Amino acid sequence: MPIPAPAPAVLTTPLLRFLEETRTAFAPLDAGEVASYIPELGKADADHFGIAVATTDGHVYETGDTQIPFTIQSISKAVVFALALDLLGAEKVEATIGVEPSGEAFNSIRLRADNKPFNAMVNAGAIACCGLIADAAGDEAFELIRSTLGRFAGRALEVDDAVFQSERLTGDRNRAIAYLLRTYGGVRGDVDHVLDVYFRQCSLLVTARDLAVMGASFANHGVNPVTGETVVSNYAVARTLAVMSSSGMYDFAGEWIYRVGVPAKSGVGGGILAALPSQLGLGIFSPRLDVHGNSVRGIRTCEAISEAFDLHML
Ligand code: DON
Repeated sequence: MPIPAPAPAVLTTPLLRFLEETRTAFAPLDAGEVASYIPELGKADADHFGIAVATTDGHVYETGDTQIPFTIQSISKAVVFALALDLLGAEKVEATIGVEPSGEAFNSIRLRADNKPFNAMVNAGAIACCGLIADAAGDEAFELIRSTLGRFAGRALEVDDAVFQSERLTGDRNRAIAYLLRTYGGVRGDVDHVLDVYFRQCSLLVTARDLAVMGASFANHGVNPVTGETVVSNYAVARTLAVMSSSGMYDFAGEWIYRVGVPAKSGVGGGILAALPSQLGLGIFSPRLDVHGNSVRGIRTCEAISEAFDLHML
């Protein structure tokens, strides 16, 4: 009797099984809306759902739509803040941008009483951050941002030109914020150039897997654990994770750090990046957003992973 061929080896681990079960449990959740204030974002497939975990020793576990590209949006703000700290020095960055939670929506035009943006995770602070990088790097500013985000992810990232154009054409609120900042010296020089850099950085395409590796680069104190490359300093990582803890999820930041306990940053493309120092990065993609602009399934998934593996920092 012929010996039956062995079944193909299925590589699985308790962590991967847990991620698959979590995805199955939350996939039916259809609360929230795909962002449409940037018209091109409204074309996203609302059902996409990917979950990835990257450990600080360079292993990646992923399930679902983890290879589907989507725009990074506000998640870029965390990396760009870290870049600004290294490029310009903490003193200059901290003189221009605060580190206080705003308790307001990400696109609020309100500044602090001293006319500084509250922090680098809200649009005003992120635009000021682009302004600082544009001051220092001139025409090279966007390429510097793109290459830094790429080094965090471990691969070269491309701009989604349709999203960039869509955001540029409808970005009057960000334009208003940038001009307001310029009246106080929070942005200097050519506002159009600064906004061009900001809109392009938000339009860079990433996957959930990329977000997990980027998170792991933060978690690994600024060294990408997959490529081995040092991407930013430990000082920049620590300060960026601190601001992510207090402000990364906008006016949900308090609830988030209370319930999930892991520094994180969301984007209106449907991504969430979370980074637990010395342990792991999480990357989630699911485009339906709640009223704060955070992914609904993304939040539930991070809560579940944090609880199951006792990841709360405190
Ligand atoms: O400036 C904007 O409105 C977008 N480029 C980014 C906003 C965003 O991702 C907020 N995150 N939840």
